[in-house]
Amino acid sequence: MTAQPSRCRSCKAPAVIDLPRHNANFCAEHLIQLCHRQMAKAIDDYDMFRPTDRLLVAVSGGKDSLAVWEMLIEAGYQADGLYIGLGIGEYSEDSGGYVRRFADERDLHLVTIDLREDYGYDVPTAAIATKRVPCSACGLSKRRLFDKAAMDGGYDAVVTGHNLDDEAAVLFGNTLRWEVDYLARQFPVLEARDGFPKKCKPLVRLTEREMAAYCLVRGIDYVVEECPIAAGNRHLGYKEALNAIEKQSPGSKSAFYLNFLSQMSPLLEGQSAAAQGEVDECKRCGAPTTGDVCAFCRLVEKSGTHVAVPVEMVLKTRRRRH
Ligand code: AMP
Ligand code: FES
Ligand code: ZN
Ligand code: ZN
Repeated sequence: MTAQPSRCRSCKAPAVIDLPRHNANFCAEHLIQLCHRQMAKAIDDYDMFRPTDRLLVAVSGGKDSLAVWEMLIEAGYQADGLYIGLGIGEYSEDSGGYVRRFADERDLHLVTIDLREDYGYDVPTAAIATKRVPCSACGLSKRRLFDKAAMDGGYDAVVTGHNLDDEAAVLFGNTLRWEVDYLARQFPVLEARDGFPKKCKPLVRLTEREMAAYCLVRGIDYVVEECPIAAGNRHLGYKEALNAIEKQSPGSKSAFYLNFLSQMSPLLEGQSAAAQGEVDECKRCGAPTTGDVCAFCRLVEKSGTHVAVPVEMVLKTRRRRH
């Protein structure tokens, strides 16, 4: 007996993807509809933004951020893009290429910042200069520059492409260590406060696999490689662990994260030290900080005066440590 081709749950056309967590298969058209519905539900449930808001979408060149930019535009939002050139060798050159092509082809406005040109350093150099894990210098730079670009450009919110897999992996790590302070801040919306813009993650109800399928059916070209520096980091391990659980028991991943938001988050309100702490202005750049000079200005000072380091050197140093 030959197996029946799988059919779309909505229209019975041949399916392009099976989604065990929804116990259904979908054709291209209904997969796109599902992605839009899930995004709209997240925007609505967590009160992210309104149709008149001006959004700044941080785009890395990966599938999630390009897809969320396209979906927001299609849903009628005013959304510009923001790309930060991190100077991670070929990986950054490729990513920047995908983002620029995406914006050009759709005639969308893209704000670009280049760490080396605009701030005199790049992520590999910052990693060596600060002797900290590269992802920490990278994360700090991105957070500060997302905030600055949004405040300078008068945007109502910064949007990132974090998906359900990303958020569930972070939650897994925070739960393993009972990081109450982080758990109290892990929410798909962070309200604007003291010089920080509002930050939103509209893809938290959609998985990595769903976003990859969305890009495939919409013909969105994106950088497939992971950042070479991040390869092997803890979160990738958590994602694998969650995928193994999901395979055994479809729906576990979304229940883990979405039920955390509905059941646990309300109990953790007000538990974050950062939300309660006094905030001053950085003496150099005016950004909110708890000290005299903010962590970003200290990073720029240390890294900007260091001789430029190629990404290969960081990878070699990492290999030796592992
Ligand atoms: P990551 O921290 O690499 O997992 O990326 C999470 C989100 O941050 C992405 O979905 C993007 O929205 C944003 N992002 C990451 N890298 C960049 C970049 N170089 N420029 C602009 N946005 C970025
Ligand atoms: Fe930040 Fe790789 S993207 S270290
Ligand atoms: Zn269909
Ligand atoms: Zn500063």
